[in-house]
Amino acid sequence: MTLQECPEPEPGEGQAVVRIEAAGVNFIDIYQRMGAYKIPLPFTPGNEAAGVVVRTGPGVTEVAAGDRVAYAGTIGSYAAQAVVPAWRLVRLPKAIDAKTAAALMLQGMTAHYLAMATYPLKPGDACLVHAAAGGVGLLLVQIAKRRGARVIGTVSTAEKAELARKAGADNVILYTERDFEAETRKITGGKGVQVVYDSVGKGTFEKSLSCLAMRGYLVLYGQSSGPVASFDPQVLNAKGGLYLTRPSLAHYTATREELLGRANDLFDWVARGELEVRIGAELPLAEAAEAHRRLAGRLTTGKVLLIP
Ligand SMILES: NC(=O)c1ccc[n+]([C@@H]2O[C@H](COP(=O)([O-])OP(=O)(O)OC[C@H]3O[C@@H](n4cnc5c(N)ncnc54)[C@H](OP(=O)(O)O)[C@@H]3O)[C@@H](O)[C@H]2O)c1
Repeated sequence: MTLQECPEPEPGEGQAVVRIEAAGVNFIDIYQRMGAYKIPLPFTPGNEAAGVVVRTGPGVTEVAAGDRVAYAGTIGSYAAQAVVPAWRLVRLPKAIDAKTAAALMLQGMTAHYLAMATYPLKPGDACLVHAAAGGVGLLLVQIAKRRGARVIGTVSTAEKAELARKAGADNVILYTERDFEAETRKITGGKGVQVVYDSVGKGTFEKSLSCLAMRGYLVLYGQSSGPVASFDPQVLNAKGGLYLTRPSLAHYTATREELLGRANDLFDWVARGELEVRIGAELPLAEAAEAHRRLAGRLTTGKVLLIP
């Protein structure tokens, strides 16, 4: 990735130009840069940001110039200005600053739909959250707790374990040192958990299936360690009538109403002090490559931001 001067972008029909104050770094940016998710080259990376609307194109009703906004799910946010479909922009309440918003849109709305919609947690459930000190992880642990579930987190270091505990995890397993399947069984008295939220993929998938209670849900929502190999659906039968889903944020923010509902829940919780957003690192935009090295190298906790 290199920093380049470009002409100021112009908004088309239904689009707005946002002057970016903070861009979020996400694991999907790494998959797109590596070519694991194909994007025509060359492209401006980044799928999340917050800032101020500077210009709008014809037909825009959702926002106006001067509005403080944030968005996720449209590419090109590692920039000083980005063109964004106006329907994806969420206006920020006074209590939410740009950095907090940039830290919440993609990872926060993901944690929201995972715990509230894909498998809606309820009191009495136990869940396993992999990479519990990561960007999605720390938010998912907190939202799972507010749903009343028992939360078991996995992490790679003692420092990350401390963060996961502070976020509310009832049990934390160092999965680089201990067998998380055996530990999960022990913690749940042999029963297993109702749901595993697995973003690690290749390295955890098989054992994640073995952590589930009968008719449990494996929610595979990422592949930080690499893609999962093909597998035989008969395994779902053998392990207890399990469910497997592979969701994306786009499936759960498909309409403006759904997008605003999730974003505004998150903003409310933060404003009331019920959801903590950890910004683990802030780097200048020119250091985007270093941000990717740290995220891919498991050296980050919470959110990583780029500041233009
Ligand atoms: N489907 C969706 O809608 C959606 C939306 C957002 C994010 N995601 C996925 O959720 C995951 C987390 O995203 P994030 O942006 O919040 O990143 P993150 O969790 O902050 O960073 C990834 C974490 O994964 C863990 N990990 C385990 N094995 C790894 C490996 N071989 N290489 C790198 N990391 C490894 C590391 O935690 P430990 O050191 O503790 O193991 C690392 O810190 C990603 O897989 C991402 O694609 C999916």
